[in-house]
Amino acid sequence: MAGNKREHWNSSLGFILATVGSAVGLGNIWRFPTVVVRSGGGAFVLLFLIIVIFIGVPLIMAELTLGRKSQKNIVSTFSTLAPGSKWWLVGFLAILTVFLILSFYSVIAGWALIYFLGSLFGAFAPLDTAGLTQVYGQIAGHPFLPVLGQGMFLTATVFIVISGVTRGIERWSKVLMPGILIIMIVLLGRTLLLEGAIEGVLWFLRPNLELMNLSTALDAVGQVFFSFSLGMGALLTYGSYLSPGENIPRNALLIGLSDVAIAILAGLIVVPALFVFNVEPEVGAGIVFVTLPAIFNTLPGSIIWSSLFFLMLSFAALTSSVSLLEVSVAYLVDEKKWNRTAAAGGLGILTFLVGIPSALSQGVLANRLFLGRNILDFIDFITSSIFLPLGGLLTVIFLAWIWGTNKALTEIYRGSPQFRWGRPWVFTLRFIIPLAILYIFITGFF
Ligand code: TRP
Repeated sequence: MAGNKREHWNSSLGFILATVGSAVGLGNIWRFPTVVVRSGGGAFVLLFLIIVIFIGVPLIMAELTLGRKSQKNIVSTFSTLAPGSKWWLVGFLAILTVFLILSFYSVIAGWALIYFLGSLFGAFAPLDTAGLTQVYGQIAGHPFLPVLGQGMFLTATVFIVISGVTRGIERWSKVLMPGILIIMIVLLGRTLLLEGAIEGVLWFLRPNLELMNLSTALDAVGQVFFSFSLGMGALLTYGSYLSPGENIPRNALLIGLSDVAIAILAGLIVVPALFVFNVEPEVGAGIVFVTLPAIFNTLPGSIIWSSLFFLMLSFAALTSSVSLLEVSVAYLVDEKKWNRTAAAGGLGILTFLVGIPSALSQGVLANRLFLGRNILDFIDFITSSIFLPLGGLLTVIFLAWIWGTNKALTEIYRGSPQFRWGRPWVFTLRFIIPLAILYIFITGFF
């Protein structure tokens, strides 16, 4: 697979599915509801949507454009488009960040795998909410089970990356994405019919402006970056496998909308379920792992629903983790002439080792706190709320002020000559995004 000629997506649909596959993952189904509950419900959701429109979608376009133009990995994109400068350092920041994200992402995905196996054996079926909360604590806090789950998940990720992104992922995504959507719609129907659900729906939708503050804004920016796979070269790398005819603006919008739709769906399932089943929001990272099995248990055939759901969640995480690993593999393969197998395998092992403290962060290492967060939450926080927006900020500054918006527009018009939003897009990249991110950084921290 490490030929000289760069691989390209087999079809437009394949590209969209792979990119949506990268965006849709634990960020939508696990992280979004968790952050919404922590950060004040409707107020947060509103902020999230505003950031999606003004920062998220324009940035998806920016990354795809840079990648397609350079046809290179994240580091070489900067060094090719701005030769002689130090911008390639941003590429290394990106590689470090995706590596750190994958180290804890694989831990949560490992829980999903364990929940899948547990569901198959009916382990959750007889439990009530208190029992489910307890079992979550036992699984996530176990001295080695989470490490095992993390290892299994990373192994699967490495295998897919080795076989090349165009094969496998494109096909898997076609089955899995619709599958997840169907199960989630069933779940939504079920939650909404439960008594007391409506209070949760209102809490989710009603923006209580008093709850909005600047650290909420930082959380919301972090969530958009994480969920859209932005700021660290994942979409840029996927864009580099694009051929010139592709319509970038249309795809960017499609990716953004699908991602938001799945996140909102997950929120509308999980939040009302908290109200119905009286789950304490203190479960934190485990909210989804407690509320969803609780809803499944109200359905006939709960074992089947629950197994299917956690299997699909694991796969959704897999299509995302592949994109995380691909960022650094593409660099080693392009620039250092490694073969894919060595690059993916080596990085996989390294990620596993670095991720072990996160895997133990709910149990053996639960008392190790940084800024009041356990190891996993801390790495999640610094990567999502700091490194990703920082990477996004540097990327737009690069595109809008260094490389040049005319070149960017020329690249976009190649695949979509009728694109009418060129000027507003440029304005957003030049002024709105940099100022917004800077403002949120400065005020969010002080
Ligand atoms: N977007 C994915 C999710 O929501 C996670 C992810 C994949 C990601 N690739 C990324 C996050 C690159 C940041 C950067 O689950």
